[in-house]
Amino acid sequence: MKIQDFATKKTNGVPITMVTCYDAWSATLIADTDIDCVLVGDSVAMVVYGHDTTIPADLEMMVAHTAAVRRGAPDAFIIGDMPFLSYRRGLAASVDSAAALMRSGANAIKLEGAPGNIELIRHLVESGVPVMGHLGLTPQSVHQLGGFRVQAKNGEAAEKLISQAVELQRAGCFAIVLEAIPATVAERVTARLTVPTIGIGAGRHVDGQVLVLQDLLGVSTTFRPKFVRTWMDGSDVIREALQSYHLDVTEGTFPNGGESYE
Ligand code: KIV
Repeated sequence: MKIQDFATKKTNGVPITMVTCYDAWSATLIADTDIDCVLVGDSVAMVVYGHDTTIPADLEMMVAHTAAVRRGAPDAFIIGDMPFLSYRRGLAASVDSAAALMRSGANAIKLEGAPGNIELIRHLVESGVPVMGHLGLTPQSVHQLGGFRVQAKNGEAAEKLISQAVELQRAGCFAIVLEAIPATVAERVTARLTVPTIGIGAGRHVDGQVLVLQDLLGVSTTFRPKFVRTWMDGSDVIREALQSYHLDVTEGTFPNGGESYE
């Protein structure tokens, strides 16, 4: 996948697939599939580190995970998530944050929200950094939003979101994530934009979908939102494998001769 392919896919009506990824091991598996691109999301703070929100993710964490994903998937199109407040400290400091993610292996960066970000997005895009936008439920604002809630549920909020999406497109975003908004609003945004929308909890009428890897594999231990589908019962499979290992060791059947050095 190249940056130009995002627009081409929208033009041709071919859905874009994106999945989160935080480590080299799963990046290698994803690289063996036809999935279009990977997002090193700040959800790493919740999924990997066990925090309640994405706020504890910092630049050092995101750089380390982006570099790991790049090592696991040398040819993947990787989007690195700008963590909480890392792009709100003025233009120069925000550019440094983006530079750190790009140097660690990202092909593009993602940041949340439109207000206050337009000048930065324009500057990054003009400087050669592809930027993905993110509207709707923007988890870094969880305390401002009063929780992880569906957004743009009334007409006024929907209009505001649509005009923010247009602003992001004008500033140069190559794609926009729409998180947890009514499907009808996502459909309107998608029809209004020339750049693709990538939905998570935003229904079918978008240009692509993104899910957290651990959610789709059924290995998440936390709350599972309504919009998640699981393609395997990963937790059960892994638990059974671990229990079998334990039993084989305690019953003396592992290791056997073939699993030992002469
Ligand atoms: O951090 C993340 O995983 C995300 C996706 C939910 C879009 O931003």
